[in-house]
Amino acid sequence: MISANTIKIVKSTAPVLAEHGEAITRAFYKRLFIRHPEMKNIFNMTHQETGTQPQVLAKAIFMYAQYIDQLEVLGGAVETIAQKHVSLSITPEMYPIIGENLLAGMGEVLGAAATPEIVTAWAEAYDALANILIGREEDLYVDREKSEGGFRGHKDFVVTKKVVESAVITSFYLQCKDGSTIPTFQPGQYLALTFTIPNTTHCYTRNYSLSDCNCKDYFRISVKRETGTPDGVVSNFLHDQVEVGAVLSVGMPSGEFVLKVEDKPVVLIAGGVGITPLMSMYKNLAQQTDRQVTMVQCALNSQARAFEKEIEAGKRAGVKAILLYDQPLDTDVLGTDYDQKGYLDLATLSAIPNLKDSAIYFCGPKAFMANTLSLLNTLEVAEEAIHYEFFGPAEALEGVN
Ligand SMILES: Cc1cc2nc3c(=O)[nH]c(=O)nc-3n(C[C@H](O)[C@H](O)[C@H](O)COP(=O)(O)OP(=O)(O)OC[C@H]3O[C@@H](n4cnc5c(N)ncnc54)[C@H](O)[C@@H]3O)c2cc1C
Ligand code: HEM
Repeated sequence: MISANTIKIVKSTAPVLAEHGEAITRAFYKRLFIRHPEMKNIFNMTHQETGTQPQVLAKAIFMYAQYIDQLEVLGGAVETIAQKHVSLSITPEMYPIIGENLLAGMGEVLGAAATPEIVTAWAEAYDALANILIGREEDLYVDREKSEGGFRGHKDFVVTKKVVESAVITSFYLQCKDGSTIPTFQPGQYLALTFTIPNTTHCYTRNYSLSDCNCKDYFRISVKRETGTPDGVVSNFLHDQVEVGAVLSVGMPSGEFVLKVEDKPVVLIAGGVGITPLMSMYKNLAQQTDRQVTMVQCALNSQARAFEKEIEAGKRAGVKAILLYDQPLDTDVLGTDYDQKGYLDLATLSAIPNLKDSAIYFCGPKAFMANTLSLLNTLEVAEEAIHYEFFGPAEALEGVN
């Protein structure tokens, strides 16, 4: 139980956190990685450089301060964080390290405003939040360990097949190195893999969604080669240097962006490599249920498009696929090779049969997701029917251009 006095003090700091939250979390991460460089093996350092992780953590802490007396409001956020932590094999012993550096970051940014009274109240509040997360994470660890093929922490897997799916996406098939069966998972879930890359100073951990049906004896991940300045570290390593026989360190499947078992029709809307969790849902739906399914695939063009054959193979009565290219090649013929040019729009979405009675799942780049959510809102699709996932720290979609 958090004391009434602590609640009062923590709530009174909410406006300060709204103003300085990001500066505090930046100071926290800076301290953390200096004092505990081993944490670089777990955190995605690109999210640090681009600022997305400090923003998301600041927002989570600010929300916590605001709702410390109504923790039920935070239920959804707690689950998202716990699922992410479990994928990464976070342990209870790591919590005091994070807490100590977070409080020190607070002191560093707020200076004299961080009175001993405030610091003590936040220490109590942090412990309470940590205990909620540790409790939920332990439940998830135990559940997963008990499930078929389950384990705790990371385990060695061998790459048994590598398949080029498009000019930019390549799949990796993974099986347990010790020969045991792979754990069960729900369509839509992801893995965390930790990579040791030659000539680098720390390991790299990344999440990848499971892209195949959950009825196979392997995990499959499908990875887009990220290019830019600089090029993506792990995706290029996977494409260029990870071959059949390579051993990778893999955590248990996690995530709450999962296909719900219900009778409704399903609409899957994929942007680029965001198709991966939706492919797993599509293959399960096509093979294991008679639910009505519409797969809307948005890709650049035929070179970038992945999974053409698998989408075709999944077609049965009640399964339909719509293909959009926003930069078709001269050889891509509208009406024959693809269904629509440009981005997803109201006309295409509203033409989907039973859209408003469907469960809708979407995933893709941020601008694609913001557009999709805004279209669904315009069409007055019920909030409870809409499910989406980010390939990065969860952010708000409203107001994104
Ligand atoms: C739940 C979840 C599921 C995911 N599923 C998939 C999946 O199925 N398939 C898939 O391909 N990916 C997936 N991802 C994304 C994946 O985890 C990686 O983020 C992605 O592969 C890029 O990693 P990387 O190491 O190659 O790139 P990074 O090295 O992390 O770089 C990423 C991008 O940031 C840019 N960048 C790097 N440093 C900077 C900087 N200092 N300033 C500005 N920009 C910079 C790079 O140019 C690059 O474009 C998923 C992510 C999550 C969270
Ligand atoms: C009360 C304590 C904590 C809170 C409130 C918290 C909050 C969060 C949040 C909001 C996210 C983003 C989730 C998402 O949207 O994907 C996250 C991710 C993460 N957390 Fe925590 N966390 C806490 C403790 C810890 C601890 C103890 C560790 C151990 C090292 C840890 C490691 C991570 C990592 C590695 C990620 C993924 C970061 C990334 O992808 O860049 N967290 N956490």
